[in-house]
Amino acid sequence: LPTHYTLPSGDKIPSVALGVWKSAPDEVGRAVTAALNAGYRHIDDAWIYRNEEEVGAALAASSVDRKDVWLTSKLWNQFHAPEDVEAALDESLAKLGTDYLDLYIIHWPLALNKDGSYYNKELTENPYPTWKKLEELVDKGKVRNIGVSNWSIRRLQNLTANPLKYQPAVNQIEINYWFPQPELLEYSKKHGILLEAYSPLGGDGRVGDSLRVKEVQDIAKALDITPAQVIISWHVQRGTVVLPKSVTPARVVENLQITKLPDDLFEKLEAAARAHKPERSLTPSWPIDFDIFE
Ligand code: A2P
Repeated sequence: LPTHYTLPSGDKIPSVALGVWKSAPDEVGRAVTAALNAGYRHIDDAWIYRNEEEVGAALAASSVDRKDVWLTSKLWNQFHAPEDVEAALDESLAKLGTDYLDLYIIHWPLALNKDGSYYNKELTENPYPTWKKLEELVDKGKVRNIGVSNWSIRRLQNLTANPLKYQPAVNQIEINYWFPQPELLEYSKKHGILLEAYSPLGGDGRVGDSLRVKEVQDIAKALDITPAQVIISWHVQRGTVVLPKSVTPARVVENLQITKLPDDLFEKLEAAARAHKPERSLTPSWPIDFDIFE
């Protein structure tokens, strides 16, 4: 299985990352340290996770060079106004203790007002001004690649209908056994946009269910690997980056060990994932008058 994917910039992004969403303070630093020691070279963070300082401290304390780690962060919703974007990035850079990001992502297709209130309709419907600002930050050398998160095909089409200098390199979105997103995966491959799977093990409350899926259990037994390793391998075999979150050092180590699944077993798992009704685990509760996922 690929250890890296090549983005349009030529940069190589590691296929497995440590996700740090919902990692509590005091735990996340240890998880990052365990991950770097286990060989992870990709950390996926965001301004809103409120743990960039602790992640930055763990990176600084490790013997791994900054240039050898892929570092992603995300622009929060209330900073979409072009005049606010660079300051938001600068805050993330300062907290992470670095002068550039490998990847900077628009976290949601939703522009809040700067005070966090709901919402900037114009910039939500047309995010091109925000994107142009991100392109500028690439040219300034502060970010090496730019992308989006939680974007539907329709929103990708709306953005890319503009004369972009840089296409979105990635779209980070929920993908797991319960919500495998085959249409988005196909569209993204066709258009050279790499998908990054968050909540890859199943999302809120559903990890246990995923690990008990019969096809997952059967493959785990056949290959003598763990159910989590089956699922993480399935993601990479589908061609996405995978962002398993764990603050348990033994699981952090386990989750990096991926194995190509034999084609027939891969197809069985893929068919099972597509056969049931798709169920998204994440339901944002913003009081907005549109479906953010459409
Ligand atoms: P913990 O962080 O306590 O180790 P997802 O990435 O789909 O959101 O899943 C994250 C959840 O799955 C976390 O609760 C995490 O627990 C748990 N988890 C992560 N890796 C494994 C694993 N290898 N086996 C079982 N549970 C795991």
